[in-house]
Amino acid sequence: MSLPATDIAPFADRRRRVFDHLRAAGGGIAVLATAPHAVRNRDTEYPYRHDSDFYYLTGFTEPDAWLVLVAGAVDRAILFCRARHPEQEIWEGYRCGPEAAIERYGMDDAHAIEELDELMPALLLDQPALYRSFAAAGPVERKLRRWQAEAEQQGRGRRQPPARVHDLRPLLASMRLVKDASEIAAMRQAARISAGAHARAMRAARAGLHEYELEAELLYEFRRHGAQAPAYPSIVAAGANACVLHYAAGDTMLRDGELVLIDAGCEVDSYASDITRTFPVNGHFSGPQRALYDLTAAAQAAAVAATAPGRSWNDAHEAAVRVLAQGMLDEGLLQGSLDGVIESGAYTRYYMHRTGHWLGLDVHDAGDYRSGPAAPADRPWRNLEPGMVLTIEPGIYVRAADDVPRQFHDIGIRIEDDALITHEGCELITRGVPVDAREIEALMRE
Ligand code: GLY
Ligand code: MN
Ligand code: MN
Repeated sequence: MSLPATDIAPFADRRRRVFDHLRAAGGGIAVLATAPHAVRNRDTEYPYRHDSDFYYLTGFTEPDAWLVLVAGAVDRAILFCRARHPEQEIWEGYRCGPEAAIERYGMDDAHAIEELDELMPALLLDQPALYRSFAAAGPVERKLRRWQAEAEQQGRGRRQPPARVHDLRPLLASMRLVKDASEIAAMRQAARISAGAHARAMRAARAGLHEYELEAELLYEFRRHGAQAPAYPSIVAAGANACVLHYAAGDTMLRDGELVLIDAGCEVDSYASDITRTFPVNGHFSGPQRALYDLTAAAQAAAVAATAPGRSWNDAHEAAVRVLAQGMLDEGLLQGSLDGVIESGAYTRYYMHRTGHWLGLDVHDAGDYRSGPAAPADRPWRNLEPGMVLTIEPGIYVRAADDVPRQFHDIGIRIEDDALITHEGCELITRGVPVDAREIEALMRE
C-alpha cells in the first residue's frame, strides 16, 4: 500500500473536472470502487495495490473503498471506507475511518463501507446518468445492478434511477494522459531511484552470479530509497533469455561473453518508472554485440528526436523501425530494400514490439493512442502534448537459426527510457544510468 497523499489539492481538482464533465453532459452520478484484495494462495494475499483510477480521484490507498460523485447544484464527493475498528487494527493496521476521511481527503461526506448497500439506491434516484467503470465486471457490476433495481422500487414510479449508463474510463484516461506537477514530481523520483538501481546492478554484475542476484540488487535499491514496490515484475535476462520479451528474473547463471538485459522500474507514491538496459556480463561488449547495441541506441536516438509536442504518437516508432531495419540489412540479418523490409514486415522477425507506451499510475498507462471518438479502429494517431509521459524502448532480438549470421545468435537487446513531453521536445527522466556503450563499460569498471 502506498503512502496516503499529503497534498490533497490535485485530487480535489481532478474531481472538480469530473463534476464539470458530468454537468456538461446533463448531470449524473459517478461511482467507482477501488481494487479488491487478490488471494495468492489459501489465506495469503498478494500485497495490496489500490485501483489507479480510484487513487487518481481520491489519493486514498485503503482497500474496501468506493467513491461516489454526485454532480448537481451543489456537487458532492462521498467516500465509503472501512470504519475504525480498534481490535482489527491491532492485526491489520491503521484505518482512516469515515470521520477523518472528510477532512483528510477533502470529501464532502463519508460513510462506513457497511452503509454502501443501504445508501446507494437513494443516491441513484433522480440521477439522469450513471458513470461507472466498464472494466469492473463481476461483483461491482452486480452491486450496481442491484442498487438500480432497488432504486426503482424505492421510486415507486414517481422517481427513477439513471436511464443512461456510461463508461467513466475514457474521461479518466484522457485526464491521466497529461500529468500535473505532483504526478511529474513522483515520476521523476521513481525514475531517479530506478536509474540508480540499474547502475547498481551494472556495477554488481560479473560471471558466475545468477539473474536473481541482480534482481536482489534492484529490489534493495528500490526499497532503500523509499519506493513502495516494483512497478512490474523485474526482467533480468541472461544471454538467450533476453530474446523472451516477458522473461522474469530466474536462476540462470551470468556467463562471460554474454549480455544481460534488465527491464525493471519501481513505483513511487503510485507512479511507475520503466527502464531497460542491456550490458555485457564481463564489462566489455564484443564486436557483434557492440554492432547491435549501437544500432539499438541509434534507433532510440531517432525515436527521441521524433518525440515532441505536435508530433504524432507513431512518429517515434516509425523512426526507430527505419533505423533498425536499415541496420538489419547492413548486418546481413535481412535481405532486400529498406522500404521493402518495412512494407513486408520482415523486420518484425527481430523487432516485434512497439517503441513505447504511456506511463503513469500504471506501467502501461491509461490513454488512447489514437485521437477522436472510440471508433473506427484506424483513427489517426494522437499528437503528443506537453505533460504526457511515455517510454521509448526499441530493441533487437536475434534467435539462433540456420539462416541468421552466427555471430548474432541469441543476442537480445533493448534500451528503454521514460520521456516527459516538454514545450520544446522531450526530457528523458531516466538517464541517471548511461546508455552509451563506452559509458556503460566505464561504469562497470568502477
Ligand atoms: N516493462 C514493461 C515494458 O517495458 O513495457
Ligand atoms: Mn516499457
Ligand atoms: Mn520495460
